[in-house]
Amino acid sequence: MNVLGVDIGGSGIKSATVDVLDGAVTSERLRSPTPQPSTPDAVLATIEALVTQHEWSGDVGITIPGVVVSGVVHTAANIDDAWIGLDAQRMFSSALGRHVAVINDADAAGVAEVRFGAGRNITGTVLLLTFGTGIGSALVHDGVLVPNTELGHLEFRGDIAERYAAGRLVKSENNPIDWWARRVNELLAYIEVLLSPRLIIIGGGISKRFDEFKDDLTTDAGLLAAELGNNAGIVGAALAANKDAP
Ligand code: BGC
Repeated sequence: MNVLGVDIGGSGIKSATVDVLDGAVTSERLRSPTPQPSTPDAVLATIEALVTQHEWSGDVGITIPGVVVSGVVHTAANIDDAWIGLDAQRMFSSALGRHVAVINDADAAGVAEVRFGAGRNITGTVLLLTFGTGIGSALVHDGVLVPNTELGHLEFRGDIAERYAAGRLVKSENNPIDWWARRVNELLAYIEVLLSPRLIIIGGGISKRFDEFKDDLTTDAGLLAAELGNNAGIVGAALAANKDAP
């Protein structure tokens, strides 16, 4: 069964259809720049255009880079404030005229990695952290997601964690990767005290450079790079919309 997964990121909105039984991407992957300002209306128009380009009439799963509870967006650190309080699930379903599920972006990536990627067959506590514009987190225990953990917003070193150690500090602000990795290592040590995960999966754009920084990370947890790369959010979005999910 196929579902269209849509991943709303700080710079791009990506989409593809996904076979929810094996996590395979089954269409061309499309990408449109995230509108600026990233208001709900502008993002909806971009998603409508992507759905049309895919010639897709089936169900859709959409990630949001903020807390999502029962389809309602509660925070918007890296998207327009107009999302806060909006029932995004209802907006997308009525505009697209079909079943739509909405899920936090990191939660989507975490579920996808645990089902089909670096965390498959791992029991116990698995934590995925995405390092991009912000820091996203997905906490999964024995395959079950605890949604909206938002560890990127933990207070840390006098600020919030994502301002201290987001991937953006390397990508957009040109800091050296080992400088950034030392900061990530401090953050992982703190998170380990809180959650003692068995496995930490590093996702986000910077995970492509995992080999360059993995030796700087001294956590006792297992440590792996995300395997689904840029597709993790898309795959997790599609899984969230799968009405036949076990
Ligand atoms: C948001 C999270 C999101 C993360 C990654 C954070 O600023 O609060 O909800 O998962 O960025 O996009």
